[in-house]
Amino acid sequence: MKSLNELLLVGADALRDVVDRARFEAEILLSFASGLSRTEIITKDKKKIDEKKFYEMIDRRRNYEPIEYITGRASFYSREFSCSKGVLIPRAETELLIDQVLSLTEPIKNPIIVEIGSGSGVIAVMLAILRPDAKIISTDINEKAIDLARRNAESFCVSDQIEFVRTSFINGINTKCNILVSNPPYIAAGYPLDRTLLFEPRDALIGGETGTEILKEIIATAKDHEIPFLTCECGYDQEESLAEELKDWRHAEFYKDYANLTRGFTAKII
Ligand SMILES: C[S@@+](CC[C@H](N)C(=O)[O-])C[C@H]1O[C@@H](n2cnc3c(N)ncnc32)[C@H](O)[C@@H]1O
Repeated sequence: MKSLNELLLVGADALRDVVDRARFEAEILLSFASGLSRTEIITKDKKKIDEKKFYEMIDRRRNYEPIEYITGRASFYSREFSCSKGVLIPRAETELLIDQVLSLTEPIKNPIIVEIGSGSGVIAVMLAILRPDAKIISTDINEKAIDLARRNAESFCVSDQIEFVRTSFINGINTKCNILVSNPPYIAAGYPLDRTLLFEPRDALIGGETGTEILKEIIATAKDHEIPFLTCECGYDQEESLAEELKDWRHAEFYKDYANLTRGFTAKII
């Protein structure tokens, strides 16, 4: 039986050639395997834990499985969400989309927000937390995503503000909405995916042959339903093609991410 510090060193060593922050990730996995906090790992060094469970987690990570799927937890907008295989892991850059919705809806009381592509529910849940007067309808074609999103909404006590619907785009939804938000799949079908991305559902990543097909359909959907505001995440190289699609809109603007690359747009019909 090894002490916790010894296990930490073995784990970090095993991860060194696979991840950038080997000791940090080994600490997280040891914390999950032992049920101890990262501080307790140091103070309770002699505590016996289920070593097999820890080694299994290290092996999964060595196989490039994202740490969020191994721990079942993902951080988004400074909150911890449940996350599971079969559903996209939320990304830090999507936090910018939340800020766009907050800014566009600021003058609107009791806004009705519709989202296409719930995934783990992070967008709908965060908007419900930050705009307690809002109602949100969030759709996804993936049943696993809808189940996980509902669980996340329950754990943040915002279920009564959000209706999760399993449908494509906003088919069957007749509510008049103030804004449509989406972080849709937007990678081109032939784009070589990094090996960690291969663990994530393809339907959540691939947006068609060019990558912009779903985004273009979302723009058309917002127009058909006369939704006055639209904001979406998109790829860094999709601005030109999407600007063309948005040329009839009264106002369309692209925003950048932390790396100063195009990451999304906002558009207004009125
Ligand atoms: C990139 S993920 C975004 C998930 C989550 N909103 C987030 O930001 O982490 C895109 C989501 O859109 C869903 N999706 C793909 N096509 C769809 C469609 N036609 N209608 C509704 N949802 C769709 C996928 O299942 C996936 O959950």
